[in-house]
Formats: sequence, C-alpha cells, structure tokens
Amino acid sequence: MASSEPGDVLILGSGLIGRSWAMLFASGGFKVKLYDIEQQQVTNALETIRKEMKILEQSDSLRGSLSSEEQLSLISGCSNIQAAVEGAGHIQECIPENLELKKKIFAQLDQIVDDKVVLSSSTSCLLPSKLFAGLAHVKQCLVVHPVNPPYYVPLVELVPHPETAPATMDRTYALMRKIGQSPVRIMKEIDGFALNRLQYAIIGEAWRLVEEGIVSPSDLDLVMSDGLGMRYAFIGPLETMHLNAEGMLNYCDRYREGMKRVLKTFGPIPDFSRATTEKVNQAMCVNVPDDPEHLGARRQWRDECLLRLAKLKRQMQSQ
Ligand code: NAI
Repeated sequence: MASSEPGDVLILGSGLIGRSWAMLFASGGFKVKLYDIEQQQVTNALETIRKEMKILEQSDSLRGSLSSEEQLSLISGCSNIQAAVEGAGHIQECIPENLELKKKIFAQLDQIVDDKVVLSSSTSCLLPSKLFAGLAHVKQCLVVHPVNPPYYVPLVELVPHPETAPATMDRTYALMRKIGQSPVRIMKEIDGFALNRLQYAIIGEAWRLVEEGIVSPSDLDLVMSDGLGMRYAFIGPLETMHLNAEGMLNYCDRYREGMKRVLKTFGPIPDFSRATTEKVNQAMCVNVPDDPEHLGARRQWRDECLLRLAKLKRQMQSQ
C-alpha cells in the first residue's frame, strides 16, 4: 500500500499539462522526471519551463520558496520508463485523452511499479473505473484532474476508483496541498466529475438564453464576468446563498419557491446546432477573431489576469 512519503515525481507526457505539473511539483521542492514517447517533447518542455520560470521570477510570480534555478535543477528529462519509475513516489500521467492509450500505459506501469507509488491520471473526463479496471495496483490509482492553466488555477479534483484505498486519496490530498494546489475529494466517480458538471450546466443555460434570443452572446458573457464570476472567484454558490440572507436556512426560506419556479423553466439539453454556433462564433470574433494570433494574445491576457487574481486571493486569505 501507498507509504506516507511522497518520494520523487514522474510525469508521463510532456505536453501542456505535463509541463505545468512539472513546474508545480518543482515549486514544492520535489525532484521531477519528465518522460514522453517523443524525446523532442521532453527537450521542448525543459526549454519552455526554463523560459516560463524566468519570466515568472522577474514578475515576482514564481510559486514556492525556491529560486527558479533551484527549481529548474529539480527537473530532468528521461527516456526509459522502467528506470524512471525507480524512486518515484507519485506518477502523474498526462498523455492524450484516449482511453485505450491511457489503459495501455497504466497496464505497463502495473507490471513495473511497487506497492508504494501512487498512480494518478490527469484525465479530464475518463472515469477511474474504466481507466484502472483489472489492475493489480488499483488501490494505488486515482484521477487527479487539474484545471487549465494549473499554475494559476489551483483546483484539482481527486476522483477514486471504487477500489482506491483511502490512504491513496489522503496521501495525494496532502501532496497537492504541499505544492500549493487546492484539492477537492469527489467521493464517488461520476461523469464530468464536479467541475465539468457545473461548467456544462452553465454552458447549457447560456446556450438556451442566447438561442431563444433572450440575451446577446456578449451580454451573456458579461453576466458571468462582471456579475456572478466576481464573487465566485472568492466564494462558491453555496456560501453565496449563506451570505445573501441571514444564513443558509434563511436564504432557502426566502428563495426556495423562487428557485424552484425558475429551475422548472429550464429547457432541454441544447443540440449546439450549426446555426446557433455560427451566431455565437460571430459575436465572439468581434472582440477575439479566431485566428491563432488573436486567440494566443487573448489567452495570454487571460493568464495574466489569472496570475494577478491568484496573487490577490493569496493576499486576501492571509488577512
Ligand atoms: P498534449 O497533447 O499537450 O500532451 C500529451 C503528451 O503526451 C505529448 O507530449 C505526447 O507526445 C505524449 N504522449 C503520447 N503518448 C504517450 C505515451 N504512450 N507515453 C508517454 N507520452 C506520450 O495533451 P495535454 O493537453 O497536456 O493533456 C494531457 C492530459 O491532461 C489529457 O488527459 C487531458 O484530458 C488532461 N487535461 C488537459 C487539460 C487542458 O486544458 N489541456 C486540462 C485538464 C486535464
């Protein structure tokens, strides 16, 4: 069974998410090995990480208490998975979102790992029961789903297989806290986990409101970015209820019937038809044309906003 010592970290897959995990674990002082089926991806990842860490350090946004050089010295590439597994206490899989590919790599790991290491998948939507079915080390397996970009958005969803040992969840929870992430425990696997279920509920209603001509696409986005989103960065929907009346009990007494009445008017699942998609796309392209240059620039701006928000949240939490 998983020991309480985190040990070194092995990242499988050096793409977007693998790179972020490498930076996060190094910021927590862990030795990190990066593996990829494409050796060039590891080389690219090490280069990108170096550049990003330097920029973050210059803007005083590098996470953890170590300097960028100290953090960089903790990260190395490797080309042999068998050797890389040696000494690893936590393995974070970040290969493409393909069930067969992921099953194959976990089956391979199952043959070579000991009974101490935690085997974790970054999957966004594959269920643990599908990913880890039949593995001898299933008790050591779980999903640890990050949110993009993980360096600025700390939430991670921990999702167990029905046979995952509680100690695996506990140890991973502690590890995530140690690297400054914000873990939540999903008690029982469910399609979409929690984050995407909430996200899709919002997207569904946003789509219906736009499709029915009740609000324009750009105004719909403002409802979130200048309305609900302002407080959701600090408190969730349940605490919002608690604060918007004299506590939760009072909120439900006041608003129960109103909430139920409105909820009953929600329409069916949208089919995301071509016609509405084009209409929404046209509206989005007014501000952000959908070519790589504009999309890239806007993503950079978004990440800069998230970075500043993360700083503000840290300041507010320490008060
Ligand atoms: P990516 O395509 O950027 O990177 C995948 C990497 O895996 C590539 O470098 C590829 O060469 C490598 N790879 C492919 N087969 C491999 C194998 N058998 N062994 C080792 N390496 C292999 O993908 P990305 O975006 O980093 O996603 C990785 C995982 O993280 C996916 O499961 C995805 O659903 C999940 N995720 C992605 C998020 C995102 O916004 N991109 C957010 C949260 C989770």
